[in-house]
Amino acid sequence: MVPQWVIEKKRDGQALPADDIRAFMDGYTRGTIPDYQMAALAMAIYFRGMTFDEVATLTDVMMRSGDLVDTSRVPLPKVDKHSTGGIGDKVSLVLAPLIACCDVAVPMISGRGLGITGGTLDKLESIPGYRTNLSADNFVDVLARCGCAIIGQTATLAPADKKLYALRDVTGTVPSIPLISASIMSKKLAEGTDALVLDVKWGQGAFMKSLDQARELARTMVEIGARMGKGMTALLTDMNQPLGRTAGNALEIVETVAALQGHGPDDLVTLTLETGAHMLRLTGREPDHARALARLRGVLDSGAAFERFLSMVTLQGGDPRVLEDVTRLPSASLRRDVSAPRSGYVAGVDAERIGRACVVLGAGRVKVEDLVDHAVGISGLVKIGEHVTKGQPLFTLHANAENRLAEALALAREAVTFADSAPTPPTLIVDVIHPAGGR
Ligand code: URA
Repeated sequence: MVPQWVIEKKRDGQALPADDIRAFMDGYTRGTIPDYQMAALAMAIYFRGMTFDEVATLTDVMMRSGDLVDTSRVPLPKVDKHSTGGIGDKVSLVLAPLIACCDVAVPMISGRGLGITGGTLDKLESIPGYRTNLSADNFVDVLARCGCAIIGQTATLAPADKKLYALRDVTGTVPSIPLISASIMSKKLAEGTDALVLDVKWGQGAFMKSLDQARELARTMVEIGARMGKGMTALLTDMNQPLGRTAGNALEIVETVAALQGHGPDDLVTLTLETGAHMLRLTGREPDHARALARLRGVLDSGAAFERFLSMVTLQGGDPRVLEDVTRLPSASLRRDVSAPRSGYVAGVDAERIGRACVVLGAGRVKVEDLVDHAVGISGLVKIGEHVTKGQPLFTLHANAENRLAEALALAREAVTFADSAPTPPTLIVDVIHPAGGR
């Protein structure tokens, strides 16, 4: 295989034979193919796209570039979920312990926030002591003991993706459906799960700005997983307004605890239960969606999922006392309420602006190596369709520096728009996508 010939083929719009993809990616992972050739191929893929067979081969070779987690000593069906990322999305934190209470194991390998989207690992790391960097063995130990474990990508899990993702990040090649599909699915397929539910977000605060793009991404990933023998379902969900009422790491842990104690915001709870019901169906634990929903509601209300979350956090080195008394979580030194400039109905809460304000406050990162401030963010967010009177708080900014507070304020106050009559709230779950061949 001559690397430049492979690049030329893709540049000219041809489909690459599986052997070319395998040899090229092997060479890149081992370092015999340099970054500049990989970047050129990624850009050619960005412009020319890939056939489904090409994406499936790319996923397979990236998945096999490192170790596959062996979860076989946990004698339960295994299911995970993955969100393509958004603002205020803490569903994984509520869902993993909830599903673990239903005799199903949840081996979850999550990511950090990048750009305006938050990351599950950053949220968990606002709990003092919580370790996201367990070895694969310790990860499976935690899974065996409490039914769920949430860690970050280890050095040996899909290393080809780790290397390629960093390169895409600095070469303008992130927003490509074949590359995103292979990146997400290579990691998820390596973590030892039998089934996977994807939450593919669309809208201002998501990677995919249009519903059509989100649908294509969802379909591609569902079919790749199905081809590899996994039970697959994808939900297409709204990310035009933030999920829940908080954005920012420790603030989202506070909202997670509220949800696990039975008083979470409606959209967060609905999306968690709906996603969970699909997970239970895929594992065969509940054949019927309505019964799965009722079972999950009962578990949430019983407090068992909160107890399970405490166990997981403790097993991963975290201090559970901050969850029993959330005032012990990191908190910011400055707080500023932003009040409604007029009375009316909330017509929009621009998730992208809220996400940018969080990055300015320090809750998110611009570069992969940036440190995040766990205490800062936004709480008490109004939701589309709610009525507010002039002077009523729309949200509260939490900051640790006056200059950041001022900059975030300028961004976030423009996020909320108003109407005189009640608008139709966005549809939270727009569609549910199953593999073409069923399951
Ligand atoms: N998340 C990933 O893991 N990979 C991508 O390419 C995009 C989002």
